[in-house]
Amino acid sequence: MKNISVIGSGTMGNGIAHTFAQFGFKVNLIDINQTALDKALQTITKNLERQVSKGTLTDIQKSEALNNISTFTSIPEGVKLADLVVEAATENVDLKLKIFKEIDESAPSEAILASNTSSISITQIAAVTNRGDKVIGMHFMNPVPVMKLVEVIRGYQTSDETTKTIMSLSESLEKVPVEVNDYPGFVANRILMPMINEAIFTLYEGVAGVYEIDTVMKLGMAHPMGPLQLADFIGLDVCLAILKVLHNGFGNPKYAPCPLLVNMVSAGKKGAKTGEGFYKYT
Ligand code: CAA
Repeated sequence: MKNISVIGSGTMGNGIAHTFAQFGFKVNLIDINQTALDKALQTITKNLERQVSKGTLTDIQKSEALNNISTFTSIPEGVKLADLVVEAATENVDLKLKIFKEIDESAPSEAILASNTSSISITQIAAVTNRGDKVIGMHFMNPVPVMKLVEVIRGYQTSDETTKTIMSLSESLEKVPVEVNDYPGFVANRILMPMINEAIFTLYEGVAGVYEIDTVMKLGMAHPMGPLQLADFIGLDVCLAILKVLHNGFGNPKYAPCPLLVNMVSAGKKGAKTGEGFYKYT
């Protein structure tokens, strides 16, 4: 594998592009407009510089990584030579299905198509393509250049060969891949989101304040961020969307999103990216 196309240049997409480029892969980064792509390149440059200043990367390696990235505003153009396409678009089923149809029509027939979805069914995504055996979940964690895990999700039709290829490719990025099956929330979010939701209920019911809840979990359980800060970091709209997938997928009321989370998202307070969630960001 040499040519990787990444669809979506937001937080996850630019982190995925950064990581592949850092490990010597040629990356085509695709988004709907050049402004988004230019912003992503600025973020990648800033994060590579952070690694240079920490001494984990040299200036030459930084330049090589940046030279490995090309940008495209058309999916057919950006994926036509891909060995692997990693989709990291907004977490919306209809959008993902539309993108996968388009990739399937334009990417080489032997290319593997992966989704970085945090909870949408890989089996459902694969069903709109003519290569269900080559469709797989490749769920990176934010910040992608730092976090070691890749949750590798096997859809109903994903072949052993595709899974093996993605497991060893993830290792070549110095990540630790973990193979899981395609059920709502997979493993990461099935466990993480109920914890975040419970933290929001704890606030909603007045048991404790934001600082207190996060401090208990940070200092008491050695989590790097408290659950409310982590929810802001992930995006409250993303947390809500994932909880809805769990709630609908299992039909179990234990996954029902806290009304406070629903209200905050409706009010546009979606966390760090909107300047306000449980905390304020300047
Ligand atoms: N690119 C490159 N390097 C980065 C970076 C980025 N985007 N962000 C942080 N870093 C580096 C820093 O340079 C620093 O490097 P050193 O260890 O070499 O010094 C290191 O990461 C730690 O960063 P900071 O010192 O700035 O800050 P920190 O110690 O507070 O760590 C954090 C920041 C890594 C984000 C840490 O707070 C953390 O681990 N938080 C939890 C993250 C988490 O849980 N992520 C998963 C979210 S869930 C998800 O992504 C999936 C989903 O489906 C919802």
